[in-house]
Amino acid sequence: MMDIAFRKAGSLKAHPDESSLGFGTIFTDYMFNMDYSPDKGWHNPRIEPYGPIEMEPSTMVLHYGQAIFEGLKAYRTDSGGIQLFRPKDNIARLNRSGHRLCMPALDEGFILEALIELLKIEKDWVPGAPGTSLYIRPTIIATDPYIGLRSSNTYRFFIILSPVGAYYPEGFNPVKIWVTSQYVRAVRGGVGEAKTAGNYAASLYASDLAHKEGYTQVMWLDGVELKYVEEVGSMNIFFVIGDELITPMLNGSILSGVTRDSVLQMAQSWGMKVSERKIAIDEVYAAQEKGELKEVFGSGTAAVISPVGHIKFDGREITIGDGGVGPVSARLFKELMDIQYGRAEDRFGWTLPVA
Ligand code: COI
Repeated sequence: MMDIAFRKAGSLKAHPDESSLGFGTIFTDYMFNMDYSPDKGWHNPRIEPYGPIEMEPSTMVLHYGQAIFEGLKAYRTDSGGIQLFRPKDNIARLNRSGHRLCMPALDEGFILEALIELLKIEKDWVPGAPGTSLYIRPTIIATDPYIGLRSSNTYRFFIILSPVGAYYPEGFNPVKIWVTSQYVRAVRGGVGEAKTAGNYAASLYASDLAHKEGYTQVMWLDGVELKYVEEVGSMNIFFVIGDELITPMLNGSILSGVTRDSVLQMAQSWGMKVSERKIAIDEVYAAQEKGELKEVFGSGTAAVISPVGHIKFDGREITIGDGGVGPVSARLFKELMDIQYGRAEDRFGWTLPVA
């Protein structure tokens, strides 16, 4: 294992008011950095003050978007400890995304060690107010100063930390979703299942249209037939139809969400009928007409469990249930948070104490 160097900050930042944390604007005092070159491999791991990355304007990531990232969280438990939620799954996915984006693999065990070391230094930044956490953003960017098109030879890996509250201004209140039948997020054979920067850039235009219509997020249909539901904005999506919990099956263009997988495991453990399968938007509307569409909700690290109150597709808006929070969403939200915050027994082995 490589030694991790440490460079101390000259001064530390004031901490924010925990009761009014939003998402993604505040960053802690330190970050982890490491570089890759073909001759040295991944090298120079170091924890140093959070700050600008100097790069030439020709740096490849700025031109061709060869960039991947992850999102995971550290939680403050009631007893004052700190724990991570399924960190190995996020680090494994980072390597899968990296493989798709032609990047060199990281040593997953070492990255977990580096993250824990960073968290030990920054432990006072993990907020304790209800619903807050420390969001962790590991990222890899292509750093060759070169504007021909090929994969980069050099890379920077970094981890930054951000104390956060709810991702949506709605909190756990239902969001409104707008289905686009004109734009797609991912195509067959594309990079949909990789957590790469360009997927998020590609989503912005339809997102803006949704906002203009008064909706929070876009629901994406498949890129081949524009028929089957894939995912929503920054979340995976679930439907409760009758007594069946359904989420689109992973098909290469859907992000393999860690929270998605956790939802599937929790619902299965309760004895619910759980299906990963294709689900057409027409099936959702047909279920609504028959009175069988009970609940819709999204899942994600940032979004946690986010109930959907309204969906608009093809000019028709439907209200899910009474537009409020359904029992399956509420139970999942509570059980997931109870595990993440160490209030319930971790019967799935998902949490990792770090301090
Ligand atoms: C996450 O949920 O962690 C994500 O990466 C989604 C991002 C758009 C905030």
